[in-house]
Amino acid sequence: MADRQLTFEIFRYNPLKPEVAPYMQTYKLAETTGMTIFVALNMIREEQDPSLMFDFVCRAAICGSCAMVINGRPRLACKTLTNTLPAKIKLFPLPVFKLVGDLAVDTGTWFRYLSEKTESWVHTSKVPDPKVQEERMDNAVANQIYEAERCIECGCCIAGCATANIRDEFLGAAGINRVARFMVDPRDERSPGEYFEIVGSEEGAFGCMGLMACDDNCPMELPLQMQLAFVRRKMAAYGLGYKEKKRIKP
Ligand code: SF4
Ligand code: SF4
Ligand code: FES
Repeated sequence: MADRQLTFEIFRYNPLKPEVAPYMQTYKLAETTGMTIFVALNMIREEQDPSLMFDFVCRAAICGSCAMVINGRPRLACKTLTNTLPAKIKLFPLPVFKLVGDLAVDTGTWFRYLSEKTESWVHTSKVPDPKVQEERMDNAVANQIYEAERCIECGCCIAGCATANIRDEFLGAAGINRVARFMVDPRDERSPGEYFEIVGSEEGAFGCMGLMACDDNCPMELPLQMQLAFVRRKMAAYGLGYKEKKRIKP
């Protein structure tokens, strides 16, 4: 793959200039060792076209802001090496999210909606007492919570999800993963009925078609398939009337 000449076809559109219709722009670039899509885009912007819009912050698969559709698949630009791709590379912005311009989208507004809709905080009636020692948590449960918390809110699972592409309010795998995170948390006192209100609908666990594009596309390799199955099982049981009287803990 050494000395390859890469051809980038990049989606261009600036919503602030609606008089210019969306188009694809071609750029050529010599591949370098260890080049990522993020590096390539920076080179294009610095050397060929300062008007090209795309997002990044961390360059290390931590912030989730550089997600885009790379040769048909939602991926992180900073984690995708060009040497894993053919010499012709097509880049589009993530669908579902509001377009900021070219490859940049606004995932922040969507994830705020997710956090508010799922009420992403521990619901407890206990009043914190700074003089009391912290409560201990079982290691296995702590690990389950940690696993769900690894989501970097990149939006790849949402962009590749058929339901999210046709249903605006659908919480997607990221939302259902968030709900699962609080369901397993022994400090959260929400009842099955309260969780059902959030996720027991077509906008939640029952809108999911189960084809698992989310699981395939998650750059953090979160166990989304398992989380979806867990939440669906709990919500279906509640919906069918098998009401666990108190809490939904595993
Ligand atoms: S399995 Fe469900 S949440 Fe995941 S991509 Fe498919 S429809 Fe979306
Ligand atoms: S679940 Fe994975 S793909 Fe979805 S937003 Fe979180 S890190 Fe990204
Ligand atoms: S720049 Fe932060 S995840 Fe890619």
